[in-house]
Amino acid sequence: MYNDDKENNGYVLNGELERQRKFMLEIKKLNEDFEKKYDRKKTMFISTFGCQMNAHDSEKIEGMLKTMGFVYADCEKNADFIIYNTCCVRENAENKVYGNLGYLKHAKNTNPFMKIALCGCMMQEDNVIQTIRKKYRHVDIVFGTFNLYKLPELIYTNIETNSPVFDIWKEHGEIIEDLPSVRKYKFKASVNIMFGCDNFCSYCIVPYVRGRERSRHPEDILNEVRMLAEDGVKEITLLGQNVNSYGKNLDENVDFSKLLRMVNDVDGIERIRFMTSHPKDLSEELILAMSKCGKVCSHIHLPFQAGSNRILEKMNRKYTKEKYIELVEKIREKIPDISVTTDIIVGFPGETKDDVDETIDVIKKVGFNSAFTFIYSKRTGTPAAVMENQVPEKDVKEQFNRVLEVLNPIVFEKNKAHIGKIFKVLAEEVSGQDENFITGRLSDNSIVHFEADRNIIGNIVDVEVYDCKTFYLMGKLV
Ligand code: SAH
Ligand code: SF4
Ligand code: F3S
Repeated sequence: MYNDDKENNGYVLNGELERQRKFMLEIKKLNEDFEKKYDRKKTMFISTFGCQMNAHDSEKIEGMLKTMGFVYADCEKNADFIIYNTCCVRENAENKVYGNLGYLKHAKNTNPFMKIALCGCMMQEDNVIQTIRKKYRHVDIVFGTFNLYKLPELIYTNIETNSPVFDIWKEHGEIIEDLPSVRKYKFKASVNIMFGCDNFCSYCIVPYVRGRERSRHPEDILNEVRMLAEDGVKEITLLGQNVNSYGKNLDENVDFSKLLRMVNDVDGIERIRFMTSHPKDLSEELILAMSKCGKVCSHIHLPFQAGSNRILEKMNRKYTKEKYIELVEKIREKIPDISVTTDIIVGFPGETKDDVDETIDVIKKVGFNSAFTFIYSKRTGTPAAVMENQVPEKDVKEQFNRVLEVLNPIVFEKNKAHIGKIFKVLAEEVSGQDENFITGRLSDNSIVHFEADRNIIGNIVDVEVYDCKTFYLMGKLV
């Protein structure tokens, strides 16, 4: 719910947002006083861990901090405001945060103005909060995934009370629309279409830290997409943990296939992507909508996680190996040039070498264009964490390597099929390897490097592919 008061900056306000804007202005004033006194602006540094959902949340954090008058620091240790937007999907993501926090303790001693804030998925875990309270007392502000929009108020409270502020909600409140946001790219943007997840895959912590599934109203989504299009955005990525169940909790008669058609009709948008699709909910209508909507990219990310039906059942994935393969065949029948990518977990409790053979069989039968492969990570609080037969690390490594040995050559072959052909490519950025090269993306989500001037960034150009490696293509501008 929001009313229609427009502020000078064009943000549509709702009650909560209005409250936070007041705090933003207060902090801005304080930051201006700081500048007068010390002849420099207060600086910020944002570190983002995890998925696109978090990356998108960080754009909102950045938007709020900029509104409060912070400017970018040249490096982390020189920043006055440091915020970690954390992920807890696997243990190594958490360990990185703890490692960095240890290091920041020393950095804080050299900068008396430094404030450290933590937010994101990890902060929704009780054991993490206890650890921070006990071992990381140099942290100033902690909040979770449900109250991101309260950042201005929390900063203000921290300044007022000069003591640490912890604000973690157990459940979500209403969806707050129209937070200020800074986009990383001018020409492409992510748009949340839903929050949370109700699937409770037995290994996964996301439903516990992101709460129950709730969809945004189609009109709110479309307004945002239209505004982005007016602002020069060509490519939109619709985000949700399981976009295929979009609309389930809404009064409107809408589902993901309908939403896709509506977004496809927005003038100015040239490419539409979405993440992530759960195989159990992927409907015939969606396949049809994808094939009919000219702007929808020819790519689907469809995690299968494991090939063994026994393991899939223990994972609570609600489909079988056969159903998955059949689904991919159906999609390819309607959209022949589509690229299919996936997520795979190796080492789920009780997974044997024979089970991994089933995973390998799916990889061979489907022939993925690319895949993210993960070693199972035990997450406290999930059903899988207390299952018997947790697989020893050294066995998992061995099975993991077996999977990669089959997967990588297949991905390479798929890449090779691009050679000699011309593709539409969205030029995204200067290549990290060589500044004379531009890195871009094909509709099928493959990455290509090609020599070009940087002023083509943001345009869709024709590129002929002449070579490839496992993870990228090499091309030349036509
Ligand atoms: N909602 C998305 C994925 C979210 S998490 C979906 O269902 O597809 C992204 C990926 O992380 C998952 O697809 C899974 O492969 C992996 N993952 C999740 N929990 C994990 C765990 N405990 N250990 C290892 N990988 C995990
Ligand atoms: Fe996790 Fe499963 Fe939800 Fe994806 S669908 S976020 S893997 S519980
Ligand atoms: Fe994403 Fe990690 Fe949270 S994958 S939803 S940031 S636990």
